Amino acid sequence: MCGIVGYIGTQKAKEVLINGLLSLEYRGYDSAGIAVLENNKIEVMKEKGRVSNLENIPGINNLSGTVGIAHKRWATHGRPSKENAHPHMDNSKNFAVVHNGIIENYSELREFLTNNGYHFLSQTDTEVVPNLIHYYFNNDKSDNTLNKFLRAVKNAVSDLKGSYALEIITPLYPETLVVVRKDSPLVIGKGHNENFVASDIPAILRYTKDFYLLDDNEFAVIYKDKINFYDVNLNIHNKEIKNIEWDASSSEKDGYEDYMLKEIFEQPTAIRETIGSRFRLGEKCSFDDIDISADYLKNVHKIYIVACGTAMHAGLVGKNVIEKLCRIPVEVDIASEYRYRNPIIDENTLCIFVSQSGETADTLAALRLSKSHGARTLAISNVIGSSITREADYTIYTHAGPEIAVASTKAYTSQVCLIAILGMYFAEILGSYPQEKIEKLKADILDLPSKIEAVLENNEKIKEFADKVYTEKDMFFLGRGTDYNVALEGSLKLKEISYIHSEAYAAGELKHGPIALIENGVTVIGIITNKDLVEKSISNIQEVITRGAKTLIITNQVLPNNNFNHVINIPETSELVSPILSVIPLQLLSYYISKNKGLDVDKPRNLAKSVTVE
Ligand code: M6R
Repeated sequence: MCGIVGYIGTQKAKEVLINGLLSLEYRGYDSAGIAVLENNKIEVMKEKGRVSNLENIPGINNLSGTVGIAHKRWATHGRPSKENAHPHMDNSKNFAVVHNGIIENYSELREFLTNNGYHFLSQTDTEVVPNLIHYYFNNDKSDNTLNKFLRAVKNAVSDLKGSYALEIITPLYPETLVVVRKDSPLVIGKGHNENFVASDIPAILRYTKDFYLLDDNEFAVIYKDKINFYDVNLNIHNKEIKNIEWDASSSEKDGYEDYMLKEIFEQPTAIRETIGSRFRLGEKCSFDDIDISADYLKNVHKIYIVACGTAMHAGLVGKNVIEKLCRIPVEVDIASEYRYRNPIIDENTLCIFVSQSGETADTLAALRLSKSHGARTLAISNVIGSSITREADYTIYTHAGPEIAVASTKAYTSQVCLIAILGMYFAEILGSYPQEKIEKLKADILDLPSKIEAVLENNEKIKEFADKVYTEKDMFFLGRGTDYNVALEGSLKLKEISYIHSEAYAAGELKHGPIALIENGVTVIGIITNKDLVEKSISNIQEVITRGAKTLIITNQVLPNNNFNHVINIPETSELVSPILSVIPLQLLSYYISKNKGLDVDKPRNLAKSVTVE
């Protein structure tokens, strides 16, 4: 959700903070703000809306301080407004705080502070934090040592229920920036005579590739030339630094108009990298990062794949693969449902969590629930060291590179690809599927990057179709089997970036109700890639044509001469991985519709890239 950035060093903090906020803009754009230590006091500037509004505040370019914090807001408590924008200060204006997360008990804390003479300027949950820090600082009668500041932060966060990544600065200790996190992401980038903080790595990748990944309930006191880490009891400890291989330019637009388009076109590389050296023809699949024995796998009675949004749609495709290759029942759950429905989990359950960011609050909570019931947990993520990967028993990474656009594209296809490889790996351990068929699937997967390139060549055709339909109010997506899974993903993509209402249905289900919605001129997009189901799918599409629908068909089959309005042909592949190809025209369609409507493709309204609140 919200994004935070921090800087301490020798450069003008404002420059680094604004650059970081621009990179994090996808995390929310309700408001933006910075606080910089300037001549022994805190200078706060904030504005409703995007970072560009913040940059236009008169005087912002005069800020010359070298210590600062910044925030990009996705509103939870309090409407998007200047007064609710972060940073927030305590009443004495000695402590400035930015916060990502939600303080669940903020009303109680607000009441406590009000009873102790504090007043509030915003409707946010966050504003209690600087005031609590001040409260504890003021009531600590020891000398003004740094420990007193750190103790005040520690006491304040001990009172908080909920999730937080916090950055705090104070002119009382102008050479430090203090951070702490619980259930919200925070990374520290190490520079030379300067250090950086951010919600995620790409925001500061242009400055450093050396990162510390802060753990839950861990504090750091950051100086320009050193960083001290403390546990929950403020005992100092050492921490391992991680070198991140991502190339800074991979998180820039590289000449594309939008990140989403760039990321759609990066899919051949993302799939190639995700396959990596995990298998070769004639050799068994292997994962360096997991070691699952045949004995364990034979006793697994059930696999859950738990995720949200697009990652959950990847899980639906994964279910087909694992059930077909391994004959183990797989249930796909929406994380926010799973965590409250008392799912049946025990030590013979394997729970797989799919998350591009690795920070999605519901997915993380579902993982913790599964572990507490004794299940083994496996994370699939795109972000090294993210929360989910740190808590799961095993982690395997998609290597899609940073995904910046809110609408997930290359992460989805990489997730589908990785789950398919995982399914083959399990099947080879179990001996549950004929090896020659696994070899055929491997060959199909190895061919995917070049086939994706072929699908991308339909770009202009899809653009032309988008020109015809972008003013529509409703659209329908139909498919059977994995084509239905893709229909769900296509429909989600359209909703989130084009704001067009759309529905996805299993094609055979239409006549059980939804067909009542089909009327003259409505656009129906049919996906037909499973050769065993071609005729049945065509019959379902005919049912809507008869009722006046205009149709676009995405297919890898030679279809009998029919009265479809538009057909996009894509290369044939195994139906288990066909979504990796068939989803691409749908991604492009949503993209071009959104462009035609003049919308902000990368930053759709009301959405954030990383949903770190429940
Ligand atoms: O980071 P995650 O994969 O856990 O995110 C899950 C969803 O929030 C995400 O896929 C969302 O649905 C995308 N905006 C869809 O494009």
